[in-house]
Amino acid sequence: MNGAIRDVAIIGPGRVGTLLAVSVARAGFRLVAVAGGTPEARDLLTRSVAGSRPCASPADAVRRAELVLVCVPDDALEDVATDLAVADAVGPDQHVVHVAGSRGCAPLHRVALTGARVAACHPAMTVPTGARDPELLVGVAWAVTAPVPDRGWASELVTGLGGDPHVVPEESRALYHAGLVLASNAVGAAVAAARRLLLAARVDQPQAFLAPLIEASVANVLASGASALTGPIVRGDVGTVAGHLEVIDRDTPELSEAYRALGLATLSPVRPMLEPSVAGSLQRLLGGGRDEQAG
Ligand SMILES: NC(=O)c1ccc[n+]([C@@H]2O[C@H](COP(=O)([O-])OP(=O)(O)OC[C@H]3O[C@@H](n4cnc5c(N)ncnc54)[C@H](OP(=O)(O)O)[C@@H]3O)[C@@H](O)[C@H]2O)c1
Repeated sequence: MNGAIRDVAIIGPGRVGTLLAVSVARAGFRLVAVAGGTPEARDLLTRSVAGSRPCASPADAVRRAELVLVCVPDDALEDVATDLAVADAVGPDQHVVHVAGSRGCAPLHRVALTGARVAACHPAMTVPTGARDPELLVGVAWAVTAPVPDRGWASELVTGLGGDPHVVPEESRALYHAGLVLASNAVGAAVAAARRLLLAARVDQPQAFLAPLIEASVANVLASGASALTGPIVRGDVGTVAGHLEVIDRDTPELSEAYRALGLATLSPVRPMLEPSVAGSLQRLLGGGRDEQAG
């Protein structure tokens, strides 16, 4: 099926658009046009992929493409797609894919009405600014949401980029994406807070302590779920948690909210294993109140 796709246009020359431009070129597609974003971003991207040209108008960019990759912020998707349909820039011979995790095909509704084939294909990978190595996407799981007849070419596209396609239902995309956001952004925020606490404790190489610990903790929870959690909350060590909060409130008050929120997130799944009075003390402490038992 993807033999029918050769020429690709990208709308949105940001983090993912830039990486996908290099990835599609390496996978044997021909990147013909890039639109959206600033003129500088379009120029930068097209200079790095031979044969591509910047286009001020998304409609002009996609008219010459068999595959359109829409890589704009999630909230802009529907407007961008609708503009393409209203401009009569897409039709039955084209494939239009967006890469937002949080949305299925609904934002491409107007595009689908033109007869163009649509899919939502999201790589479950964090793509930082400046990422240009297509290897970053190799072996990565992609959520593929598409009408049944379109799942084949959409999955082949993902496979062609080195990814591992998995069908995720249209109505599940927000939940799916919420999970990934916790796995990526919330874990990152927890690690950043942990690093700042160690620096405040005058540990000069926090990564020496954190890297093996994080790796082992994540591996254990991935294998066994919340039953692999350890630490003072799981043990019911109320005094230790109270001690943490005391020094955090004193020395790094900007991290107090994060410690409490993550503590409550830890308490939630292990609560049934704790004495009710201990669980109640932890809940009050982490919820913001002082606890008599903690002294
Ligand atoms: N970064 C990741 O880790 C990651 C991973 C997987 C999927 N995604 C998905 O990939 C998509 C893009 O994310 P990103 O991180 O690459 O964002 P990004 O770096 O901010 O890039 C978005 C690009 O779209 C342009 N843009 C914004 N509004 C537009 C509009 N109305 N019309 C045309 N172009 C517009 C932006 O231009 P300006 O800069 O001028 O606003 C920018 O060039 C999102 O749907 C996101 O959910 C991101």
